Amino acid sequence: MAEDKVLIFETTLRDGEQAPGASMNVEEKIRIAQQLARLKVDIIEAGFPISSPAQFEAVQRIGQEVEGPVIAALARTIEADIDAAGEALQTSANARIHTFIGTSDIHLAAKFGADKYGRTIEAKRESVLEMVDRAVRQACSITSDVEFSAEDAGRTDITYLVKVIDVAVAAGATTINIPDTTGYCVPKEYAALFDNVRQRCMDMDSIILSVHCHDDLGLAVANSLAGVLAGARQVECTINGIGERAGNASLEEIVMALNVRRQHFGTHTGVDTMLLSETSKMVSRATGFPVPPNKAIVGSNAFSHEAGIHQHGVLKSRETYEIMRAEDVGQSPEAIRLGRHSGRHGLFSRLEKLGFFVGEERRDKLYQKFVELADEKKEIFDEDLVALVQEAKGGGASAHYRLEHLSIISGTGRTARAEVLLYHSSSDTSCRKTADGDGPVAAIYNAIDMAAGSHHGLVSYGIRSVGEGKDAMGEVSVLISENGALFRGVARHTDVLQASANAYIQALNQLENFRANNEEEFVSDGIMQSFDSDGG
Ligand code: KIV
Ligand code: ZN
Repeated sequence: MAEDKVLIFETTLRDGEQAPGASMNVEEKIRIAQQLARLKVDIIEAGFPISSPAQFEAVQRIGQEVEGPVIAALARTIEADIDAAGEALQTSANARIHTFIGTSDIHLAAKFGADKYGRTIEAKRESVLEMVDRAVRQACSITSDVEFSAEDAGRTDITYLVKVIDVAVAAGATTINIPDTTGYCVPKEYAALFDNVRQRCMDMDSIILSVHCHDDLGLAVANSLAGVLAGARQVECTINGIGERAGNASLEEIVMALNVRRQHFGTHTGVDTMLLSETSKMVSRATGFPVPPNKAIVGSNAFSHEAGIHQHGVLKSRETYEIMRAEDVGQSPEAIRLGRHSGRHGLFSRLEKLGFFVGEERRDKLYQKFVELADEKKEIFDEDLVALVQEAKGGGASAHYRLEHLSIISGTGRTARAEVLLYHSSSDTSCRKTADGDGPVAAIYNAIDMAAGSHHGLVSYGIRSVGEGKDAMGEVSVLISENGALFRGVARHTDVLQASANAYIQALNQLENFRANNEEEFVSDGIMQSFDSDGG
């Protein structure tokens, strides 16, 4: 049987932006819309033009500047709304008007309470049917691509819902959306709505049925997928699941569920899944909503394994505990996180990756040290492991150099000055030096060189943020050279100057180890290889 395509209707810029505190400016919206086009979503709902001049401008500019997807604008079943949507989309190559009205009795009573809509629920229902007919016809006079949504369909009387949809289709709507606006439905019920609509509504053959689910009970994705199994071929969703109240169905979860369980659903999407993580980060930055580490697909822990049994399994075969590849969603394939739950297998395989082959006789002691460190630190980074190995190698002594003290003075209009106290394990002495530099990092490196008694060529210096927010750590990566050989140091710290100093000292220690190069448990050129392969 031929596989159907499920269209992805992306509404981060409309429903997603309705999340309290998530508002984005026009430039940010354009950047996100461009990213969504790269992600290859089918439809971008760019905004609700009548609601504000900024929304109007966002829809208009996205329609002009973003190529590829259909650009949709939201409108109530009100003449002025549809005019505004049409005007905002006038210059868009592929325009859709998305018009909606509440259809549940709760919505009818609350929103159409005025006598002009009728005094009884029956009379109000008739008024709504007339509004749907008028609005859809007006929208169809502007564009041939018209979507109608029966708001709160999840709580709408099914016989009335069928009538509303019949009216919208007869008036020319090409997509019918059946939203669970309040996140009230459970999957079986929501699927039954689609079965009912498909069986009881007229002229359904050329109509795309759409799901639109909110997450009030945490069921938005499950309900959306139930709708797909019941015949929906458009899913409305947002990046990171942001949206009104508890949010909308999350795009990345829907897309990967359809992808990983392709045979089960018998459908596919056109989304470039490799861009999911990047897009998630971009939306998180623009809205200021952090992505929880355990968030499916795009969370920083989504592909990490800490428990020893899991690490052992994943190292043997990733399929043991992974149902998709991190690379396929744009996440780093580095799956092993070392922490207090890690086992020996995880530790020694990581060390091997770093170029350290630890002999059997040293393993128990090293693992014991690792467990002690893991009890103190939440996560063990590569530089911690390097220090640990070097410490074990020295029989309790630490690496060749250890920074015992660092202080820096710097500021606008003055030369930066650093003071370091550097411990030399070979002589068991400490040396204090002060040096100036063009900036604080240069001053620190000059002072360390003076304290170490030799100058080192800095080939490269890089810094990046690890984690989110103000207390994110800075990760510094430096490369120094001596006689054509390169030595890398990588260090993380919440204080980026401390990280800079630690990374430099780590590189010096690599150099010293390379010079010594006499311990059989270290591969000959493993030090350099290891940090290179790690990507530093
Ligand atoms: O949740 C909802 O019902 C909506 C409609 C406007 C489609 O967002
Ligand atoms: Zn919604």
